[in-house]
Amino acid sequence: MQDELNSIVALDLGSSLIKVVVGRPIKENVIEIIGKGTSISTGIKNGAIINIETTVKSIREAISQAELMAGTNVSEVIVNISGKTVRAGNHKNVVAITNRERVVTEEDIQRVIDAILSTTVVPSDQEIIHVLSKEFSVDDQENIKEPLGMTGVRLEGEAHIVSCGITSIHNLDKCVENAGVLQIDKVLSSFASSEAVLTASEKDLGTVVVDIGAGITDIVIFIEGGVAYSSVIPFGGNNITNDLSIGLKTSIEIAESIKKKYGNIHRVGMDPTEKIEIPAVSNRPSRVVHRETLITIIEPRVREILEHVNYELEKSGKKSFLAGGVILTGGSSLIGGIENLAEEILELSVSKAKPAGLTGLYEHVSSPEFATAVGLIKYLARSTEYEVNNPQTKWTVNSDEKKGIAKKIWRWMENNL
Ligand SMILES: Nc1ncnc2c1ncn2[C@@H]1O[C@H](COP(=O)(O)OP(=O)(O)OP(=O)(O)O)[C@@H](O)[C@H]1O
Ligand SMILES: [Mg+2]
Repeated sequence: MQDELNSIVALDLGSSLIKVVVGRPIKENVIEIIGKGTSISTGIKNGAIINIETTVKSIREAISQAELMAGTNVSEVIVNISGKTVRAGNHKNVVAITNRERVVTEEDIQRVIDAILSTTVVPSDQEIIHVLSKEFSVDDQENIKEPLGMTGVRLEGEAHIVSCGITSIHNLDKCVENAGVLQIDKVLSSFASSEAVLTASEKDLGTVVVDIGAGITDIVIFIEGGVAYSSVIPFGGNNITNDLSIGLKTSIEIAESIKKKYGNIHRVGMDPTEKIEIPAVSNRPSRVVHRETLITIIEPRVREILEHVNYELEKSGKKSFLAGGVILTGGSSLIGGIENLAEEILELSVSKAKPAGLTGLYEHVSSPEFATAVGLIKYLARSTEYEVNNPQTKWTVNSDEKKGIAKKIWRWMENNL
């Protein structure tokens, strides 16, 4: 049996696959992969759970596989959350520094965060899932990452606050509970994915991670080490598969396998007249199409997804700060030539990434589809380490009216420095 105490189990509730990864942090930023399990996800659409029963079944199946491979029992998981009901934004507020010395204390920092939370309007059908401090100002001095110990009369703080639909959260909680495991924490998918594919220096430089999955595309922008913007687009690889199924007049299953095998939109070096066989389906005989036909079906949808990404980047107002460019991950980033199209549309440098910093059975999760699951392990490993090393700076929100809304605040930015 493996040492259960040291291993972390990630549960990625994806729209196409449920993925369970068991990993053990062995040193800073390095995870030893010891188990993996996957199952087809039939109860999740565009990142939202639409069928609890089938999702529970799929979770159990993926967990059993992972348990077998890791030789350990899974009792606790860290899980991702995403979907159309996620809302994210930056919020500011200000407090007076009242002690006699006019020195910023932990209490002042806590007060400014409480003030931000108390003025942040969260609709009654939403619940806050993350509060990440972005930066502070002390009097006229701006862009301060750590205000503790600074002198002034006025402390301003800004936080990135993420909320999610209460129903989505309840459905997720129920699925995890019914699968018979304890939920340690839930993390926005894009935050998790970025843990797996970004380095600390890329976060400093200004980089956007775009995780293109099956049902959703998760976006997060890091600037100066912290989250500056995040967003969720309800499109992904499933839309491409559906288009192929309609365009090629074939089943979803055949369209999916053709997409995975021939999904390349980069025309350079490709023979557009190359013939591709569409297997027979029910009463329809097999047929042959040219590669060019596939491109004319796949490319417009990929373009549409990337145009949505561009819209979000423009909306963030941060495009000109992205010296680190764009990192594409998630299963749909495997489409050949997507990075060239992304460069053209986003007008930024683009590269693809899969989970990094792994040892052990790493080849089992060495695909962009595992960015979220591996990132969940890294996220927990890092926050646990952080809490142990910096117990005084773990923020908690106790204000009565916000009770149950924000339970944990992680000073992400400081953690990244
Ligand atoms: N080689 C490939 N070429 C093109 N697309 C691929 C390839 N391999 C996987 N995909 C697509 O990637 C998607 C699955 O990616 P991923 O596992 O990241 O999504 P997910 O986490 O299940 O879903 P989501 O994050 O959207 O809820 C599917 O749409 C699949 O068709
Ligand atoms: Mg995913």
